[in-house]
Parts: sequence; C-alpha cells; structure tokens
Amino acid sequence: MQLMVINGPNLNKLGSRDPEQYGKATYMDLMGMLEAKCTERISIRCFQSNSEGRIIDLIQQAGEEYDGLVINPGAYSHYSYAIMDALVDAPIPKVEVHISDVLNREDFRRNLITAKGCEKVISGKGFEGYIEAIDYLTGVLNGNQCV
Ligand code: DQA
Repeated sequence: MQLMVINGPNLNKLGSRDPEQYGKATYMDLMGMLEAKCTERISIRCFQSNSEGRIIDLIQQAGEEYDGLVINPGAYSHYSYAIMDALVDAPIPKVEVHISDVLNREDFRRNLITAKGCEKVISGKGFEGYIEAIDYLTGVLNGNQCV
C-alpha cells in the first residue's frame, strides 16, 4: 500500500512558526513520526511545497500512482478551488489534516474549501492527526471502513 502525504505552504517552518498553534516540534520531527508508521506493507512518501501548482501536480500524481492521500494544504485550505478540484478528481481516499483547531481560530479559517474534496477532515490534534489519517486510510484500503 502506497500512501502520499502532502504538506502545503509554511509547514516547512514547523518548530519556529507560531508554536502556540503548531507546537515546538519541527517538520523533520513530523517526518520521523511518519517514517515510524511505515511497515513492509505500508510505504509513505512525504512532500512539502509552498506552491499551489506543485501541490496540484502532486495530487494528480497521487491519484494515478498511489492508494491514498493525506494532505494539509495550509492556508490554501481556505480558498483554493484549484486544489479542491484536483482532490475531487483524484480517485483515491483522501484525508485533510490540520494541526491546529481551525474551527476555533480566526473566522477565515472556518472556511474549508479543499476539504470538500476529501472524505475526512482531522483538525486540532497536532501531529497525531497525521497518524490518525494514515490509520483511517489503511482501514479503508483494507476494507474495514467505508469511505
Ligand atoms: C493549518 C491551518 C491553516 O489555517 C494555516 O494557514 C496553516 C496550517 C494547520 O495545520 O493547522 O498553514 O493548515
């Protein structure tokens, strides 16, 4: 089973960026956590990009070559119809993750556009949200959960 994880703009700055919202752990710490989830049967490839076009290219690639996708589109979550369209078009199970609790922050963060292209949204659980997303996808792909 091949899973892709995409982190969008500014998530490469985890650790130093707004630690009250995102914690003190770094992007590399997150990569380490995800690597620890890999097994003989589950491979996870992680990408980070600050560019909308690159994120769309990756979603298209995931739809063609991967079994499932975890995405944190960062601020694009709140306004990118182009990323939403790419997600809707990708014929694999997808989970959107937010490290912070986007529903209880500024008003503009409650507008979840890209989430419309995902089966599930996990918000406010820190890095644990990515682990939960991977567990959800492996459950779906093993036929234990409905999309
Ligand atoms: C975020 C929430 C977004 O509103 C913000 O723009 C981010 C990170 C999160 O993980 O909590 O960049 O997606």
